[in-house]
Amino acid sequence: ALAVVLVGNDPASQVYVRNKIKKTEAAGMRSVAYDLSETTTQEGLMHLIQQLNQDKAIHAILVQLPLPLHINSHEVICAIAPEKDVDGFHPVNVGLLSTGKSGVVPCTPLGIIKLLAGVCPDLTGMHAVVLGRSNIVGKPLVHLLSQANCTVSLLHSRTRDISSYVQQADILIVAVGKPAMVQADWIKPGAIIIDVGINRIILTDGTQKLVGDVDFAQVKNKAGAITPVPGGVGPMTIACLLENTLNLARKHCVTK
Ligand code: GUN
Repeated sequence: ALAVVLVGNDPASQVYVRNKIKKTEAAGMRSVAYDLSETTTQEGLMHLIQQLNQDKAIHAILVQLPLPLHINSHEVICAIAPEKDVDGFHPVNVGLLSTGKSGVVPCTPLGIIKLLAGVCPDLTGMHAVVLGRSNIVGKPLVHLLSQANCTVSLLHSRTRDISSYVQQADILIVAVGKPAMVQADWIKPGAIIIDVGINRIILTDGTQKLVGDVDFAQVKNKAGAITPVPGGVGPMTIACLLENTLNLARKHCVTK
């Protein structure tokens, strides 16, 4: 079973968690939801994780991020048993990924690599530009893309002259959280564009809409391939969560 831990009332996190639970059960696996209040203490959360680590019926543990500010996320992630760390966020799994050994790979980066393999089976020699240096997306992608023989540039909020790098990208992955940040004049014709952004914007008529970090309507005319928001990376993240959950459950069967 997959344990899904949500702390607090962030509406976006509530939607993501509900979807993860729904899809896990639709795939025929069990999930156990832990909905904790915003005022949950560090000790309370650590205690739950230790219980889940010891529970033989739990094969995979997911703690939805971001956690409330009074919680030390690093300490929480470190408390998850690495062999139950379905997100691959534990330093043991981060270290395995960075040294090219097999561990648990974070769901969104893994989904992105599978999307890329679908349009281009051999990425050797391509210049992959990653915009955004988060632990969840940007940093793990650097390792996965370099293992796939790409030349990788990791750009972030302090990078000077971002557009000059983006213009050289054969593959562009954007995980920043800024609507329409990437414009068509930055794009090398034929480039593969992966948009990881999920931004809720309010239109002039007052209605809401989900958009990515890329100006899709303009960029799609220049790109060789491009993922939409919603519907591109999101479903792949969920698919990889299910795959990671299944793999962890199978390992528990073999060894225990
Ligand atoms: N917050 C945003 N993406 C993720 C994810 O992949 N896993 C978890 N646990 N939290 C997230």
